Amino acid sequence: MNIGLIGNGGREHALCQKISESKLVNKIICFPGNAGTARLATNVNINILDFKKVLKNIKLFNIDIVIVGPEEPLVRGIVDFLKKNKVKVFGPNKYAAKLEGSKTFMKKICLQNKIPTAKFKNCINHKQVKKFLSYTKLPVVVKADGLAAGKGVTICKTKKQVIDNCSAIFNGKFKSSKKLVLEEFLEGEEASYFIIVDNNNFKFFGSAQDHKRVYKNDKGPNTGGMGAYSPAPVITRSIEKKIIKKIIKPTLRALRRERNSYNGFLYVGLMIKKNEPYLIEYNIRMGDPECQVILPRLRTDIVKIFNSVISNKLKKIKIKWKNQKSMTIVMCAKGYPGKYKKNLKIKNINKFKTSQKDFIFHAGTQLYKNELRSNGGRVLNVTSIGSSFLEIRKKIISNIKKLNWKEGFYREDIGWRVINKNANN
Ligand code: AMP
Ligand code: GLY
Repeated sequence: MNIGLIGNGGREHALCQKISESKLVNKIICFPGNAGTARLATNVNINILDFKKVLKNIKLFNIDIVIVGPEEPLVRGIVDFLKKNKVKVFGPNKYAAKLEGSKTFMKKICLQNKIPTAKFKNCINHKQVKKFLSYTKLPVVVKADGLAAGKGVTICKTKKQVIDNCSAIFNGKFKSSKKLVLEEFLEGEEASYFIIVDNNNFKFFGSAQDHKRVYKNDKGPNTGGMGAYSPAPVITRSIEKKIIKKIIKPTLRALRRERNSYNGFLYVGLMIKKNEPYLIEYNIRMGDPECQVILPRLRTDIVKIFNSVISNKLKKIKIKWKNQKSMTIVMCAKGYPGKYKKNLKIKNINKFKTSQKDFIFHAGTQLYKNELRSNGGRVLNVTSIGSSFLEIRKKIISNIKKLNWKEGFYREDIGWRVINKNANN
């Protein structure tokens, strides 16, 4: 089979790696891919939001199935467009993609189906904002309704901060929407739970925890993610049962009722508070960098899994996982998430030897005259699997030292929560 893969981050390199291990695969075509996928696939540099161009290339390369990595093409309806043109595609349709594409939609589903989530109010004007502030304790979380490339959420400690952030959104700070959601701040431990879904069933697809803040001890501004580990020990069997019963099943039932069954990966972002899960957000795709720690633990052929979802036969397939743990540390360009330089040389990549246990997934990279250069803030995901998080982290850091990339930086305390809690972790 020929597989088309849409996206260009570390998540897509990890997907590309797994797809390349499948016996069912003939060729992989990445739209547009990065320097990491270029070693495994043909990269085709097109705008992935130009659906007609994507379709033209799908035909040109005789692609059998298409996997969509990032949220934006999904939210804009790439699945509906490709299906209408008889292309087999893995991912949710435009309606179901609103679970991530619109926070007000997601909250409506929660309210109608009694799904545990933070108390909230949808707002389109300051009067509504002031009303919510009159009966809610600070901090308050302000969330832009539409997609905002990870920049749409602000945790506000003062009323002034709430009002300023709301003004900016009402005045059009984000192109996707001028609406917003205000919600109470939830205290607890964050974790992510993943499932894969077809029209009739769903299956577990790993758990993980990531670190969003840029500096050690979870300090500094938010980023796209500085590192992650899998599995998430905070999700015990009893919490998992609650996640499925109180959050996942009612959501999938609600979509089916609307004749818009979910299809694809579903990322359930959670806050665990006093042994109860609360839904913080839905993402309609794999996480980045969570994908980079979950896929190295997967044993089953991923293309078989994709095929089973596309043909609505997920129930028949058994998804097997390695018993090992996994971690990734993100190497960023100095200055990220503020101003940083691009096109920086990464000289020592060939000193790193990929093995069954150690990988580097490329995130923001490109090839320039056959030389590896940076092409973004988050540049490389240095990843290992093993039996203890502490040992895995030591291994990753020793690999990062071998890379000796002077223009980069990373967090050396990824996984601190699990490593400090239990020395045997
Ligand atoms: P979201 O895009 O909704 O995931 O929000 C981004 C991040 O903001 C989350 O990963 C949490 O760390 C934080 N966050 C969002 N909503 C809340 C909340 N209600 N209480 C506490 N933290 C939150
Ligand atoms: N790591 C967070 C996300 O993928 O949205």
